[in-house]
Amino acid sequence: MKILVIGSGGREHALVWKLAQSPHVTQLWCAPGNAGIAQERLAKNSAPVECVNLGAEDLPKLLAFAQEKKVELTVVGPDNPLALGIVDLFQKSGLRIWGPNRKAAQFESSKVFSQDFMQKYGVPTARSGVFTAGEVLAARAFAGSLDGRCAVKADGLALGKGVLICTSETEANKAIDEMLVAKSFGAAGSRIVIQELLEGIEISLHAICDGKTAKLFPTSQDHKRALDGDAGLNTGGMGTYSPTPFLSDHALTEFGNKILTPWLRGCAEERIKFCGIIYPGVMLTKGGPKVLEFNARFGDPETQVYLTRLENDLVELLDASVNGTLGKIEMKWSSLASVCVVMASGGYPGSYAKGKPIHGLEDAAMLPNAKVFHAGTALKDGQIVTNGGRVLGVTAWAKDLKSAQAAAYAAVEKIQFDGAQFRRDIAAKALF
Ligand code: AMP
Ligand code: GLY
Repeated sequence: MKILVIGSGGREHALVWKLAQSPHVTQLWCAPGNAGIAQERLAKNSAPVECVNLGAEDLPKLLAFAQEKKVELTVVGPDNPLALGIVDLFQKSGLRIWGPNRKAAQFESSKVFSQDFMQKYGVPTARSGVFTAGEVLAARAFAGSLDGRCAVKADGLALGKGVLICTSETEANKAIDEMLVAKSFGAAGSRIVIQELLEGIEISLHAICDGKTAKLFPTSQDHKRALDGDAGLNTGGMGTYSPTPFLSDHALTEFGNKILTPWLRGCAEERIKFCGIIYPGVMLTKGGPKVLEFNARFGDPETQVYLTRLENDLVELLDASVNGTLGKIEMKWSSLASVCVVMASGGYPGSYAKGKPIHGLEDAAMLPNAKVFHAGTALKDGQIVTNGGRVLGVTAWAKDLKSAQAAAYAAVEKIQFDGAQFRRDIAAKALF
């Protein structure tokens, strides 16, 4: 099968790495890809994976490429092309593509849509209200009823920056004004969701869906803040591990059902055919699991730990998701634990330099049970250099979390670049 992967991050490197292992794949492209993706080869015929210089949001050119190359399955990594309707466009042209269509992608692209849906169909979530620009006073009053302890969220995609956490009425009023009055988030903030502030342990859930069936993955946990001890600014994610010790298999099934059963019922009633990954961010509160938000794609860097544990052939899994035959697939996960440590450019998530040479990748590649997934990297004059905020996702797997953590950090020690920053406490919460 000829496959095109869209995206350029660590998530896409992990997808390409896993797809390349499948005997079904005869040719594999990634648009635009990165320096690590360009080094992968297919297990079947040793053919190199080709990176194509097309942006993930350049829908017409991606369509033309897929048509010209007779791509048989396109796999979409990031949220933006999904929100722009890449799935609808490809399907209209008779091409097979994996990911939610525009209507289904609203679970991520509109927090108002998601919150209304959760309320309507009884998906456990935070107490919340939805407000528009004409409802500033009502928004303030609602935040006041929560003593200002709330999350104020812009409706639309805002590069992960559209959520302001408030712990007092003054902060809440400022956040509301920033979005609804000053319009700092542009159109994305013309409607807002205000949620009560939930306390507990935050985990990531993923389930793969085919429109009727949802198959739950094991648990994982991201580390969103830039610095050790969950200090510093929010980032795209500085590291993950799977599984987490916070939910037994039994509790995972029970909690997963509490979320996915009403979610699937709602999708059926609203005629939403969700094909892809639904990824609820979940707070494990004293009152049970509560969904903070939905994403409509694989998490990054959750994918790096999931795909190093997945034993199914990924092509067969994605194919079943597109064909509506997931019910026939048994998900198989290795019992090993996996840890991913993100190495980022100095200054990330603020401004940072690019083009710093990365040393030690060959040494890290010699380590068993470890894989360095590239994110913001590029090839310049034969040298791999930094080319983004999150640069590498150094991932290792072992019989337990402690050994996997040690192996991931041993690989990190092999790699250097000017200004490299990474957290030293990935998975530490699980190893108390
Ligand atoms: P979101 O993009 O909606 O997941 O929000 C980003 C981050 O803000 C989440 O990963 C949480 O850490 C935090 N957050 C969002 N909503 C809440 C909430 N209702 N209570 C506590 N923390 C929240
Ligand atoms: N790991 C956070 C995200 O993918 O949104």
